[in-house]
Amino acid sequence: MRTAILLAGLLGHFQAAAAVGRACDPGSRPYSAWMTDSVIARQDAILNAKTEDDVSIIFKVGLFESTVIRLKEYYDADSCGQEDWHSYLLAGADSLIPRLLNLTGDITSPMDTFATGEAIYHQYDRTQNATYKQVLDTLWQALNERPRNSEGGFWFYEKYPNLSYLDESYPLGSFSSLWKTYIEPTNTTIADNLINDLDLLKNHCHHDDTGLLAHGYDASKSSWWANATTGASPYVWDRALGWYHMALVDLLENADKSGVLSQTQRDDVYTKYYNLANTIINDADNTTGCWWQVMEHGGQEGNYIETSGSSMFVYSLLKGARLGYLSGTTPKGTGYTDAAHKCYGYLVDHVVNKEADGTLGLDKTVSVCSLTTPTYEYYVSQPIDYNSVYGTAPFILASWEHEMFLSGDYP
Ligand SMILES: *[C@@H]1O[C@H](CO)[C@@H](O)[C@H](O)[C@H]1NC(C)=O
Ligand SMILES: *[C@@H]1O[C@H](CO)[C@@H](O)[C@H](O)[C@H]1NC(C)=O
Ligand SMILES: *[C@@H]1O[C@H](CO)[C@@H](O)[C@H](O)[C@H]1NC(C)=O
Ligand SMILES: *[C@@H]1O[C@H](CO)[C@@H](O)[C@H](O)[C@H]1NC(C)=O
Ligand SMILES: *[C@@H]1O[C@H](CO)[C@@H](O)[C@H](O)[C@H]1NC(C)=O
Ligand SMILES: *[C@@H]1O[C@H](CO)[C@@H](O)[C@H](O)[C@H]1NC(C)=O
Repeated sequence: MRTAILLAGLLGHFQAAAAVGRACDPGSRPYSAWMTDSVIARQDAILNAKTEDDVSIIFKVGLFESTVIRLKEYYDADSCGQEDWHSYLLAGADSLIPRLLNLTGDITSPMDTFATGEAIYHQYDRTQNATYKQVLDTLWQALNERPRNSEGGFWFYEKYPNLSYLDESYPLGSFSSLWKTYIEPTNTTIADNLINDLDLLKNHCHHDDTGLLAHGYDASKSSWWANATTGASPYVWDRALGWYHMALVDLLENADKSGVLSQTQRDDVYTKYYNLANTIINDADNTTGCWWQVMEHGGQEGNYIETSGSSMFVYSLLKGARLGYLSGTTPKGTGYTDAAHKCYGYLVDHVVNKEADGTLGLDKTVSVCSLTTPTYEYYVSQPIDYNSVYGTAPFILASWEHEMFLSGDYP
C-alpha cells in the first residue's frame, strides 16, 4: 500500500509541467498530503470554540500552517490534496489574530506563540493587508519584552520564572529567521538573542556521557529537580530535543538561503546540528529504529516509542542529508538516511491508522510535558493524545522528506 501510493505520487510528478508544484494522480495521495487533508477534515488546527481551552492550540495552528505552507510549494495542492489547503490556511491564521494582537498575552504566554509567525507572514505576503503586519509587529515587540534569565536566556513561560525549555528553540528560530529575512534584512543583530539562547540550552542541558540534551534548565537552580551545577532537569524528552534539532536544521537552511546568521553563528549551529545527529542516532531503538519518550532509558518500564519526537528526528535527519549537512554514515557507521528511513517505516506500519472515513489517524503522541514535576514517572504517565497536531505536523514533514528522497530530489 505504501509503495503504491508513493509510486502514484511519482507518476504524477512527471506530468507536472505546468502546475504549481508536483501534481498527483487522481485518487492517490502521498502520505504528507493525506495527513494534511486528515488534519483539515478533523478541524484540528484552527482556533475555535472546540479548541480554545487547549493551551497548546496556538503552537499547533502555527506548526501545522508552517508545515503546509512549505508542502504546497512542492506539491500541487489542487491535485495532491482533497481538502482546500489555501482556505484552511487563511481561516487558521485569521482565527489567531485577536489573540496575537494582545501584546500582554504575547509576552505572558508560552513561547509557542512565536511559531505562528510564518502563518501570519504568509497571509501578509499574499494580501499586503496591514492587519497581518500589525500582528507581526506586535509579536516582535513581545519577543523583545519577554522575561529572560541572568544570562539572557528566554524563560519559556512567565508562569515559570527562570525556566528555559528546549521547546522554545523552534518558535524562537522560526520567528527570528522570518524577521531577519523579510522585515529587517540589513539588521545584523537580529539573531543574537536566538544564538545565545541555543548556546545556553546546550551548555546547561548537555549530558556528557550520551551527548544528548535534557528537557530544560532552571537558571536560578532553585527547583528541587535542578542539577546543582548546571540547573538542568534530569531527563531527555524526545519532543523537546526534536524541537531543538528541527530548529537547528531549519536555521542552517535559512542561513544558507537568506543569510540570517553570521558565518561564525552558522558554523556554530552546524556543529551543534551535526553532533546531535550522531548522538540522536546512537540512542535510536534497535528494533523499531525510532525514539523513546524518555531518551537514554529505552526499554525501561512504562517507556514507549513516541511519535512526535520520532517524526521530528526523521525530518531533521533527512532534511540535513538532502541539504548536504550530513552525508554517509555516523562515526559509528550507521547511514544517516538509513536510520531515518528505518524509523519512518515503523511509523507508517505501526502507528499510522487508515480510518473508516478515509482519513489517516496517528497514535502514540504524548500530549504535553512541562518541568513542573519532571520525574521519570511523570514523563511516562502523561496522557497519549491520539491525532495530536504535535505528532501529525511533524509526521507530514517526515513523510514529505521521505517522499522527496524516493523521488530522487537528493544530492
Ligand atoms: C490579553 O491577554 C491578557 C493575558 O493573557 C489577558 O489577561 C487579557 O484579558 C487579554 N486582553 C484581551 C482584550 O483579550
Ligand atoms: C484584513 O484582514 C483582516 C483579517 O482577516 C480582515 O478582517 C480585514 O477586513 C482585512 N482588510 C482589508 C482591507 O481587506
Ligand atoms: C536591530 O535589531 C535589534 C534587535 O531587535 C534592535 O535592538 C536594533 O535597534 C536594530 N538595529 C537597527 C539599526 O535597527
Ligand atoms: C531568577 O533567578 C535569579 C538568579 O539567577 C534570581 O535572582 C531571581 O530572583 C529569580 N527570579 C524569580 C522570579 O524567581
Ligand atoms: C550535574 O551536572 C554535571 C555536569 O553535567 C554532572 O557532572 C553531574 O553528575 C550532575 N549531577 C547530578 C547529581 O546528576
Ligand atoms: C543496540 O545496539 C547497540 C549497537 O549494536 C548495542 O550497543 C546496544 O546494547 C543495543 N541496545 C539494546 C537495548 O539492545
